[in-house]
This record gives sequence, C-alpha cells and structure tokens, in this order.
Amino acid sequence: GFGRPDAEGDFEEVPYNEALGRTWGKQGGKPYRHAAHAFLYALDGKKVWGLYENKAVILMNMRVDGYIGFPGGIIDDGETPEEGLNRELEEEIGLDLTKHSFCKGDHLVSHVNHRKGMVLHFYCKRVTLEDCFEIEKSTLHAKEYGIEVLGSVRVPMFTYPDEERGLPIFLTNRFCGNSKEQLLMGIERMKIMTTEEIQLALKHSESYNK
Ligand code: GTP
Ligand code: MN
Ligand code: MN
Ligand code: MN
Ligand code: MN
Ligand code: MN
Repeated sequence: GFGRPDAEGDFEEVPYNEALGRTWGKQGGKPYRHAAHAFLYALDGKKVWGLYENKAVILMNMRVDGYIGFPGGIIDDGETPEEGLNRELEEEIGLDLTKHSFCKGDHLVSHVNHRKGMVLHFYCKRVTLEDCFEIEKSTLHAKEYGIEVLGSVRVPMFTYPDEERGLPIFLTNRFCGNSKEQLLMGIERMKIMTTEEIQLALKHSESYNK
C-alpha cells in the first residue's frame, strides 16, 4: 500500500463484510463509527498548456476544517454504508442520485482505525467527462456548499518537468483520515497511473517536504 510509515498500523485494510460485521457494535466500551467516501472520476488525457497530459479528472473537497478529503461522511443509525454515502454526496456536492448513485459494486476498500474507533469505507465510480463537468457545476448548489465544503477541487494528474509541480505538490497538502492513501489506491486500482509512476510522484512530494 501507500501508507505513511509513521501511520503504519493505524489503518488496517479489512474485507467489506468483515468491516461491517466485526466492528459494528461495542469494542472497548465504545461503538465504532462508520464513514463512507467516494472517488468520482473521468478519464481525461487533455494537454495542460499543450505540454502535460492530465490523466483524469478526480474530484476531492476542500473541507471547512482546511483538510482535503473525498466527498462523503458519517453513516447515520439505520443507514447502510451505501445509503449514508449517497445522502452525504447529495448534501456535499449536490450529486443527482437519479443519475449517479453508489451501490455495493462500487466498493473499493475498507479500513479500520482501532485507535479512533472508525471504519472507513471507500467507493469508486467512473463517469463520462461530460457528466463529471455537470457534477462539478452542481457542487455550487449543494446544501453544504460554503458550510462543510468550501469547494470541489480537481487533483492535478500530471507532473511538470521540475518533478515537483502538479501531483507531487498536491500530495503535500493535509489530507483528512487516510484519504491520501485512498486517493493513491484509487489511481492505482483504476489503472490511471502505474504503481511505479505513483511511487515516483510520492517520492518527489516527500523530498519537496524536507
Ligand atoms: P459531519 O456531518 O460534520 O459529521 O461530517 P460528515 O458526516 O460529512 O463526516 P466527514 O466527511 O467529516 O467524515 C467523518 C470522518 O471520516 C472524519 O472525521 C475523518 O476521520 C474521516 N474522513 C473524512 N474524510 C475522509 C476521507 O476522504 N477519507 C477517509 N478515509 N476518511 C475521511
Ligand atoms: Mn495566470
Ligand atoms: Mn457531510
Ligand atoms: Mn463529509
Ligand atoms: Mn454527516
Ligand atoms: Mn453534516
């Protein structure tokens, strides 16, 4: 995986059914809270200034707490993760659920954070570039726009020849939960970039940090 060495052990990858069954209930006297977030993307390939190929349009949020994170949120009592995710997507980015609703088949990975007592479910869905623009426009009319969410942002999916600007610099942001690892997993599993390309962007982003 792409976990930070200093956070190793914080997030344990668990199969979906195990994530639901094993931790729903009390452990250490405290119930685990479940949250679900979504990676919505379209393949792109457009040249930036005729130079750098933008591999995909991937939508994340600038959160009100200053962190970058995926749209989504806490699953409320009585909701399945998919129901909670769809509700949060409507609230946070104004997603039209009649067109783009998430189901079990869109599930990519679940992680348990035992320290925080949280189970984090991650979903992934590819849409057309045209639909992706429509989704971006609808974010401005979302209920939580300007409240929980300060804006929808695209991940720069290219790197300048200086090996810093673009994706490496973007990765130096502060990310909510394990959303940085989720982003890299999504890019890898959807074959938007190769594992080697991702490792290189991560290495350049880490050397810039120093
Ligand atoms: P409230 O309505 O204010 O409670 O927010 P919310 O329901 O939208 O919840 P939020 O999206 O903040 O997610 C809840 C928790 O999940 C956060 O406190 C983080 O610990 C974690 N989290 C938030 N965003 C992400 C994300 O993109 N990925 C992951 N893995 N975890 C996240
Ligand atoms: Mn300018
Ligand atoms: Mn929310
Ligand atoms: Mn949220
Ligand atoms: Mn919520
Ligand atoms: Mn809320």
